Amino acid sequence: MTTRRQFMTLSAATAAAGLLPAGLLSSGSAWSQTTGSMQTRKIPSSGEAIPVIGMGTSGSFQVGETTAERDPLREVLRRFFAGGGTVIDTAPSYGTAEAVMGDLLAEQNLTGKAWLATKLSGVKGREAGLAQFAGSLTRLKTDQVALLAVHNLGDWKEQFEVIRQLKAEGKVRYSGLTHYLESGHDALVEVVEATRPDFLQINYSVSTRGAEKRVLPVAQELGVAVMINRAFDDGQLFARVKDKPLPGWAAEAGIDSWAQAFLKFALSHPAVTVVIPATGKPDRQSDNLKAGSGPTLSQAQREDLIRLIA
Ligand SMILES: NC(=O)c1ccc[n+]([C@@H]2O[C@H](COP(=O)([O-])OP(=O)(O)OC[C@H]3O[C@@H](n4cnc5c(N)ncnc54)[C@H](OP(=O)(O)O)[C@@H]3O)[C@@H](O)[C@H]2O)c1
Repeated sequence: MTTRRQFMTLSAATAAAGLLPAGLLSSGSAWSQTTGSMQTRKIPSSGEAIPVIGMGTSGSFQVGETTAERDPLREVLRRFFAGGGTVIDTAPSYGTAEAVMGDLLAEQNLTGKAWLATKLSGVKGREAGLAQFAGSLTRLKTDQVALLAVHNLGDWKEQFEVIRQLKAEGKVRYSGLTHYLESGHDALVEVVEATRPDFLQINYSVSTRGAEKRVLPVAQELGVAVMINRAFDDGQLFARVKDKPLPGWAAEAGIDSWAQAFLKFALSHPAVTVVIPATGKPDRQSDNLKAGSGPTLSQAQREDLIRLIA
């Protein structure tokens, strides 16, 4: 059995070489547990286990009030919870997404089951941060959220203090910081080291692997949970594999779509806790959820995927 210290030393060395500790990539590894078919991973700061497939809401939940717009999202949510999902990422800057999510969760009696993550987005100063969060609670129809993160490091010193205060008041359980561009990774690492959040959220995909250099090793070293955004590179990865067959090893890895291959790629990095793909289409939601069960990719399978999308 590998101790946490041995694991961290090993992962720092292998990350520097662009590799992962291959012997630790099996689904029976220390950081991965299975509940039903959806796997869970532990948040280092608390030990709470959360499902590895979550969902985003940017774009997909930015809709109006018509039945035609909302019915597919009702089904997206129904399938998400039925498939073992709970983690939902949103933000007050995603148009109507928080309000739509709040309505649809309440309608289906799912608000209490959701592990809600939202953000302090584009605000300056303590009062503005507190006021924005109060608005998020109203729109989400709840009195607390699981995770509150500073969005893209905006006004981070002040806003992180706001999150600390809200944690102390019991309105937020976990603190976080987010970014979505490789150009923001160095700044994110500095702020993570300064603030020691419970979570960081970052972009990582088979075509955008910059997070392997510093962000993911630092998260492992400091015990920060990692939420992955843009695992499909905002959908662009699908164009790269258009008309390409799945790799020959897909079935043995429990994969029957490119979406599952891309999600399993992100999840096979040992620093990663949860990935949050976004879709407004029920069948795509079912597809994405399948990536939360079955084996983790081996190092050879990861490298093959990198070659295939090049
Ligand atoms: N700075 C930040 O904090 C930040 C920045 C970016 C994103 N995020 C969060 O991360 C979430 C995910 O990122 P993202 O939405 O930018 O990108 P993404 O998840 O990489 O890609 C979303 C795109 O993939 C398509 N898609 C989803 N599932 C699919 C499937 N099974 N097959 C084919 N296409 C599929 C979606 O189209 P359809 O909707 O048409 O299915 C959409 O165009 C966001 O929603 C947001 O919650 C946070």
